[in-house]
Amino acid sequence: MSLTGVVVGAGDRGYDGYAKVLLDRPELGRIVAAADPDPTRRDRFADRFGLGTADMYPGWDELFAEGRLADYAIITTGDTHHVEPALLALDAGYHVLLEKPMALEEADCVRIVEAAEAADRTVAVCHVFRHSHLFAALGEVVASGELGDVTSIQLSENVAFWHYAHSYVRGHTRNSRVPWLLQKSCHDLDLLQWLAGSRAAAVSSFIRPTELTAANAPADAPEHCAQGCPHSDTCPYDAVATYRDLTPVLSDLAMADRPVGLGPAARVARSALPKLLDADVAGSARRLQWKRWPVAAVTDDPTPEGLDHALRTTRWGRCVYRIDDNDQPSAQTVSIRFVNGVVANFTLNSNSHRTMRSVRVDGTRGTAWGELRALDGWLKVSDHRSGRVRRVKVPTAYDGHGGGEAPLFVEFLDAIRTGSEPSVSAAESLESHRIAFAAMESASSGRVVELSAG
Ligand SMILES: NC(=O)c1ccc[n+]([C@@H]2O[C@H](COP(=O)([O-])OP(=O)(O)OC[C@H]3O[C@@H](n4cnc5c(N)ncnc54)[C@H](O)[C@@H]3O)[C@@H](O)[C@H]2O)c1
Repeated sequence: MSLTGVVVGAGDRGYDGYAKVLLDRPELGRIVAAADPDPTRRDRFADRFGLGTADMYPGWDELFAEGRLADYAIITTGDTHHVEPALLALDAGYHVLLEKPMALEEADCVRIVEAAEAADRTVAVCHVFRHSHLFAALGEVVASGELGDVTSIQLSENVAFWHYAHSYVRGHTRNSRVPWLLQKSCHDLDLLQWLAGSRAAAVSSFIRPTELTAANAPADAPEHCAQGCPHSDTCPYDAVATYRDLTPVLSDLAMADRPVGLGPAARVARSALPKLLDADVAGSARRLQWKRWPVAAVTDDPTPEGLDHALRTTRWGRCVYRIDDNDQPSAQTVSIRFVNGVVANFTLNSNSHRTMRSVRVDGTRGTAWGELRALDGWLKVSDHRSGRVRRVKVPTAYDGHGGGEAPLFVEFLDAIRTGSEPSVSAAESLESHRIAFAAMESASSGRVVELSAG
């Protein structure tokens, strides 16, 4: 049975995320309508998904006022706009695929869980990393019993310095009213509770404030990097190097050992670029027109002139030390004791040389450890008794989520078709959000926070 969907929010995730899977696999169904207040985004979406003007709505109110037009709604609006469209979609009878975080308050997460139950609809939250090649393989290793009883887990989300500057200093999520831990790492807290196989019992957390503040700004740095900053050759956050030369992005993609710099790293990266959708390689990295994130967030016009204009006139080109209203932490640690006795440590940091999650699970019979990087990953499993180490193959993935996007979406469609529970239902996601809320309480109070049975 092929299913139909609507998309609420035709931004980066709405346009380039789950719905895109249908373009390669039309047998799974199609998108029949979408909503976004931005006319350029509506046109772009309609063009890609073969929709007419009448199928495009200026907002979720207008879309849901039509009643139920399809089987499911994909909600990919910004972080502060998840609760209202999710509740309206359930009220109209849609199944819901909801981007994370579910909500910014625990009470709103609970409202979504209760509304899903009352409406008897499937709600899956996009904790895409459970489905990534690396973590799916690790989940299988843990579930197989090969590690014995899991005793402890260590997980780090190492956010590359340039990604932090883009999203959490210059970007939309620079203010901790949308807490970084909740926004970025509800994924990781979900992974921990899943790998531990248990709910959290107690949480403690520490925060280091950001270094990217006016107090640390070089005195002679102009407001925009492109205005002749004397530090442009040495500053890791230089906007021209980041968005025009793509220096750190290419280094990340190239899986180079050194964080910044072209050379062999860029040659490898450029050979991978044609595989990445919408990249026009025009002979050299400097003339590369990169139409995807992060440049897509900076300007709709990635020509050299369009990008130069954006870097001189918008906050995307600003000196990272002079943004003024950014207060997301530089780092946060979270320690968790689970009900079943497993203990875990999680670190979220903003100064990584590259985009990378690293994980280690220790058990009574073995250890598994690995890394998930921008395009690839690796996983090793060691047996305590024999000392043998085996390497688990982790395929390359180009979706930016370790290969997790398509499996997550297909599982959601299967759940609707068969009535089965998606692996991260609203109720399951609520538990990882509870860990995030407890961690934030602990970081501000300095106390260990006990979680109730809930
Ligand atoms: N699961 C993941 O790994 C993952 C990765 C990236 C982003 N996200 C999440 O996805 C969400 C969307 O992120 P994004 O980068 O696509 O943001 P975005 O800003 O690019 O897109 C959001 C879109 O919602 C639209 N919108 C605003 N009000 C609306 C309304 N009333 N009706 C319909 N549309 C409306 C905006 O115009 C915008 O186009 C965020 O919550 C983000 O945290 C999740």
